Amino acid sequence: MTDKFGRTISDLRISITDRCNYKCVYCRTGNEGAQYAELPFADYLRMARVAVSQGISKIRLTGGEPLLRNGIVDFVRDLAQLRTPRGAPLDIAVTTNGHLLADLAAPLKAAGLSRVTVSMDAVDAALFARITRVPNGYDKVLAGIRAARAAGLDPVKVNCVLLRGFNEDQIIPFGKFAREEGVVVRFIEFMPLEEDRRWSPEIVVRLEEILAEMARFMPLEAIPLAERVQGAAASGMPDAAQHANSETARRYRFADGIGEIGIIAPVSHPFCGHCSRIRITSDGKLRTCLFSLRDHDLNGILRHGRAASLSDEQVDANLAAFLHAAIERKEERHHIGEPGFMQPSRSMVHIGG
Ligand code: 5AD
Repeated sequence: MTDKFGRTISDLRISITDRCNYKCVYCRTGNEGAQYAELPFADYLRMARVAVSQGISKIRLTGGEPLLRNGIVDFVRDLAQLRTPRGAPLDIAVTTNGHLLADLAAPLKAAGLSRVTVSMDAVDAALFARITRVPNGYDKVLAGIRAARAAGLDPVKVNCVLLRGFNEDQIIPFGKFAREEGVVVRFIEFMPLEEDRRWSPEIVVRLEEILAEMARFMPLEAIPLAERVQGAAASGMPDAAQHANSETARRYRFADGIGEIGIIAPVSHPFCGHCSRIRITSDGKLRTCLFSLRDHDLNGILRHGRAASLSDEQVDANLAAFLHAAIERKEERHHIGEPGFMQPSRSMVHIGG
């Protein structure tokens, strides 16, 4: 599938719940809970199957916290049966806060999960608890990361959102953590997607600043494109060149060759021009951009199919047509930092990361 700006859409994120067991200060107010419905897994699977028939080759499960949803292992097993039109298996990933990962890493891997990304915004247990507003999470998440590595979910990526005045002192500790734990740590610039609107340009810790700070420990060097394509191919990525080209993170390694760091810089270095992503929310709405001001009621197609007793083939054809029509209207770019920027109607936890 290609949109009107020539971008190939190959990457689908499905939020399977907007419940979360953490209340991270930069994401949630702490007072709001889940707000949107969850669909039966069979409905997400059907949407995924049609999306794959139309060119999606990577699926990431998100939330909320996806591991809170019973049945996720079976859902991954079902997704792992899907094949691209060329007959290749999908790349299947999960983004999780890691709290429940220690027990689920091995079953998820056995079910066919390819990779996992763990969100973790401090490597200091006390600061971690202040950010997540949950006591004693740090040890659980660390155990989850280690279990994921032990299960062969490779590479394990760790996402860290940096907030000025809050956790930017974690940059160098995270650099050391990446090297010691054998994980890829990726710093994410804070985006205006939180429930209580505390975003400002000043609070964002930007790419150049992260590089400069890390250089006080050890300089980073960019990983060349050819190597990134090769790496993706070696790890079985369905379309390695396209994958490397649409990666959100700028990737670096330490000067001594040990440890990888990524920086995702949607604010200071937007990557909308090669965005390959669409999202389905837990209640079955299609979003073509994190910053979409509207969504497309994909689940409405399923509801209509049931109400009108349409054949499976007809419903699948309707889903496919709906996907194409929505992608046709995919936004050219986000407008963070510009005058007139409007924050989307849903915050990150209710869209899906
Ligand atoms: N800006 C940037 N990243 C965010 N995340 C959640 N909210 C924001 C935000 N406002 C991160 C989570 C998780 C991933 C899905 O996105 O920490 O790692």
